[in-house]
Amino acid sequence: APGAQEFIPPSADTIDELRAAAGGCRGCELYRDATQTVFGRGGEHARVVFVGEQPGDIEDQKGLPFVGPAGRLLRKAVDDAALDPAQIYLTNAVKHFRFELRGKRRIHQTPDRVHVTACRPWLVAEFARLRPEIVVVLGATAAKALLGPSFRVTKQRGELLPWPAAAQHPEDFERVPVDRTGAVADAPAARLLATIHPSAVLRADNQDVAYEGLVADLKVAAKALR
Ligand code: URA
Ligand code: SF4
Repeated sequence: APGAQEFIPPSADTIDELRAAAGGCRGCELYRDATQTVFGRGGEHARVVFVGEQPGDIEDQKGLPFVGPAGRLLRKAVDDAALDPAQIYLTNAVKHFRFELRGKRRIHQTPDRVHVTACRPWLVAEFARLRPEIVVVLGATAAKALLGPSFRVTKQRGELLPWPAAAQHPEDFERVPVDRTGAVADAPAARLLATIHPSAVLRADNQDVAYEGLVADLKVAAKALR
């Protein structure tokens, strides 16, 4: 698979231009079975970017990220953490839905590392255009996309971390690439915070405890914005 980079027009200066180009991405095989590319959404001046794993079944059909049950829970958590929804942009590490057909049902499949790597140029391009102050990574797939395969959400959740381009990486993990303007590396204010995925809250034995943990982590981000 060629990866997404060759599908990103160097002239795409805005999120809308990136989104339009991503509609034609064939950077990995996931475009074949999915309905459509699900790009990020939110304000061009968002201060906080949330990165999930990949669109779910409903997101795939609607073409919008976080519009299913996990998205509903995430929006409630954002609200309970007193983060301003107008300051937020939502996206995913992988922009096509990966699934397995069982009869007529489409069962979510976690994307592989090849998909995450192939799709990462879109994420980097979003960061470069948005220049967020904080990137919140939701769950292991997003965390590994930006922090490398050895990162453990359970151990380092809820902590404000330095931007990974400035951090050390395991040797098998390429540095998060910087766009042609060098914008990502030049955004010293950007910090990263990992937390659990809202879908993990929905699957937890004790949903209330898991939810409160998510909100507590998001409050760390909310405080850091003030
Ligand atoms: N889960 C994700 O990670 N992203 C979505 O957009 C929806 C559910
Ligand atoms: Fe392109 Fe990402 Fe879709 Fe793969 S998952 S085709 S890299 S947009």
